[in-house]
Amino acid sequence: MNKQHPLIVFSPSGMRGRVAKGTTVLEAARQLGVDLDSVCGGRGICSRCQILPSFGSFPKLGIKVSADSISEWNKVEERYDRVRGLKPGRRLGCQARICGDLAVDVPPESQVHRQVVRKSADRRPVTMDPAVHLYFVEVSQPDMDLPGGDYQRLQTALEEQWGIKNVQLSLQVLSRLQGTLKQGDWKITLAIHQDHTGFAPRVVEIWPGFFGGPLYGLAIDVGSTTVAAQLCNLADGAIAASSGIMNPQIRFGEDLMSRVSYSMLNQSGAADMTSAVRIAVCGLIQSLAATIAADERQIVEVVFVCNPIMHHLLLGIDPVELGQAPFALATDASVQTTARDLELVVLGNDVPVHLLPCIAGHVGADAASVILSEQPHKSEDLVLLVDVGTNAEIVLGDKTRVLACSSPTGPAFEGAQISAGQRASPGAIERVEVCKESLEPKFKVVGCDLWSNEDGFADATAQTGITGICGSGIIEAIAELRMAGVIDKSGLIGAATAGNESRLIRDGRTNAYVLHRS
Ligand code: FES
Repeated sequence: MNKQHPLIVFSPSGMRGRVAKGTTVLEAARQLGVDLDSVCGGRGICSRCQILPSFGSFPKLGIKVSADSISEWNKVEERYDRVRGLKPGRRLGCQARICGDLAVDVPPESQVHRQVVRKSADRRPVTMDPAVHLYFVEVSQPDMDLPGGDYQRLQTALEEQWGIKNVQLSLQVLSRLQGTLKQGDWKITLAIHQDHTGFAPRVVEIWPGFFGGPLYGLAIDVGSTTVAAQLCNLADGAIAASSGIMNPQIRFGEDLMSRVSYSMLNQSGAADMTSAVRIAVCGLIQSLAATIAADERQIVEVVFVCNPIMHHLLLGIDPVELGQAPFALATDASVQTTARDLELVVLGNDVPVHLLPCIAGHVGADAASVILSEQPHKSEDLVLLVDVGTNAEIVLGDKTRVLACSSPTGPAFEGAQISAGQRASPGAIERVEVCKESLEPKFKVVGCDLWSNEDGFADATAQTGITGICGSGIIEAIAELRMAGVIDKSGLIGAATAGNESRLIRDGRTNAYVLHRS
């Protein structure tokens, strides 16, 4: 054993190497390229650097680890444990020093790029790699003998303490910098955006003193009829909040082409629709943040997907060219912009906003996002993806070729222009089965796994109630009613084969079938 340069082995990465005796575990992780988080830069404040040392003999690793292979608890760790508590066996990697050969485990919450298994059907693992991180910095105070700006001293501190050079900040952040530095006694936490494009790192938001997060990313789907959004915790990928609203552009026209017509016929038509959707998105962001008692400033990155006309209107581009052949897009590339440019005034000016690329004149960024997520272009088997909204997109393909197309379907599947229609939110009927003998229905609602005829259904849905029917419920109800003979082949409800009059409401030529009476 080389006593002056003990061996340290990190799990689960398996990365190992020798470091000088007395090196902290965090420094060793950085030297060896191990994924160990830190916001406070090793000051014992953030606890992101937690590690779990293992003791004993590890023949596979070729080391023996004794209790004195790691330094004793120091005052910083003792204070942290007293005030906020450390799990049994855990140490702060920035405080614990390596005294002998050592094996340490980096728990998932201490990994920056942790793998997250999504809870959706395919359970594909996602590696978290957010472009925005928090950095805690101590900035030197102004000095009569050293004239210079606070921003420049912040740049120096960032380079010295984190190796981040040439950080940029907007006038909006600059205008708050001095007050924030003073409030934090010259300590400040910055959310800095650095991505793979090579642009200079940029300060997105600042907080006085230490701020440990969480930070959130926001994903928004602007549909023709509804706008749906999810707030995602950037540390672990968990969905912190979901919500949706009706797209206020409906008042300008229910489907895509009627909105293009509105733009053609009214001088400020496109601008009015742009303004309406941006204001609605701001309201949606506020309500999402309120749901989890978060500050909107914790939202540091936004991704939009939309069909091409919604995409153009969100960006402030007149969609008139999309209303006529050859249906030319203003751009078929992804768009990188900021909250300021999109007038998302509830967010910081410099919050990065990304729009996925539109594929063609009427196949939008929403279809691109489905392809990105489901990856039909990597599949051996033929994959069919169907997204039925007010506009429907269909993607078909495998690793040799992928085709996409779209067609208008109307707003009914999003809950518009249908009695009791609604978005797929808790309480909406989403599954329907109709008994072919009795013609009695049973159904499931969003947020409850029980069928309506099962014990416990009433209790399980007491809070949400049964509030309406969403698109998937409509499709299945129509299919089930047709198979049960309640709907004839012309589409008429209450055909001669129907036998359960208690469920039918006859009204001249317009008949109805009652799924649920509330
Ligand atoms: S790096 Fe922040 S507590 Fe260790």
